[in-house]
Amino acid sequence: MSGPLVLAVESSCDETGIAVVEGGRRIHANVVASQTALHAAAGGIVPEVAARAHLRWIVPVLDEALAGAGVTPRDVDAIAVTYGPGLAGSLLVGINFAKALALVHDRPLVGVNHLEGHLYAAWLLDSGEDEREEPEFPLVALIVSGGHTFLVEMTDHLTYRLLGQTVDDAAGEAFDKVGRLMGLSYPGGPAIQRAAESAVTRDAVFPRAWLPGTYDFSFSGLKTAARRIVDDARRAEGITDAEVSLPEATTAELAFGFQESVTDVLVTKTIRAAEEAGARLIVLGGGVAANSALRSRLAAEAEARGLRFIVPRPGLCTDNGAMIGAAGARRFVAAERAGLDLDARPSLPLARPAVGAT
Ligand code: KG4
Ligand code: ZN
Repeated sequence: MSGPLVLAVESSCDETGIAVVEGGRRIHANVVASQTALHAAAGGIVPEVAARAHLRWIVPVLDEALAGAGVTPRDVDAIAVTYGPGLAGSLLVGINFAKALALVHDRPLVGVNHLEGHLYAAWLLDSGEDEREEPEFPLVALIVSGGHTFLVEMTDHLTYRLLGQTVDDAAGEAFDKVGRLMGLSYPGGPAIQRAAESAVTRDAVFPRAWLPGTYDFSFSGLKTAARRIVDDARRAEGITDAEVSLPEATTAELAFGFQESVTDVLVTKTIRAAEEAGARLIVLGGGVAANSALRSRLAAEAEARGLRFIVPRPGLCTDNGAMIGAAGARRFVAAERAGLDLDARPSLPLARPAVGAT
């Protein structure tokens, strides 16, 4: 495979990820140090703790990635780094680390939008994976993560038209908050999926916010409804002690109902958007795309309409360096270069003017 060899750094949230990716596709190494266990006690990410953990892990993660790919920083064509959106302190660790690497090893630096990374994960191939056709345009992508939920149309590389987005909570945020309400472990997404998979009774129905006439999403009403449904279930079981959790079978049924509600809205709107845009391909990405119910339902509905569907394997849906390497290669080929004044942009939107385009 031809194309630039990119060393990519991701530290926008609570995963320290460094990867070596060739041609925006082929993964040579992809090392992720997850802080999930560190934040579990607090039931959510503590920004200051996250930034310090990035500092602690970024050098060993780099060493492992370089050793895994069998390269040194001198061998790569560019160093790509996430500069937003994300937590300011966390972003700064990755940005300053990448700047130091670029300066010391005299390599070009490329700034990458984290959301663009989630999209470009669809292009990635694992090291031993067979070649497959590249994603083709126009495509419609649903990106669902802990901080973002949006539908976007891509008519070409690096060209985005935002179709809709959440007006309140992100889908992953809803999973995490409702997981906590149900007494499940952090993060709520994987915990709700596991509970839902064990559901025998599947009768609990959660509301759907359709926001008709738009491709926007809303999950805050669902969260409020979930609180009421959980409270009602606790009353029905005669549980008054806050320390006592619902029986496992009840939790499983509620987790299933909640997951169905989120999945139903996400899939229905994505299919409609793809049909209206005349897309031939649907891409799913972001941490919530690791959800097996969402993946299989969207795959089935796309197939029924003759649409191609791509979703990265779960480890490439959650935050990682390889996706930044995939997007970074495109930006590098488009002659974009970041200077040593590259700064963290915690609220960076997906559609934005190019950085240093020539
Ligand atoms: O993309 P990501 O790793 O970080 C952000 O950029 O936000 O997404 C993390 C989110 C969390 O909210 C987590 O609960 C959710 O992705 N998530 C899942 C699953 N795995 C991770 N949600 C539903 N089902 C899953 N299997
Ligand atoms: Zn993410």
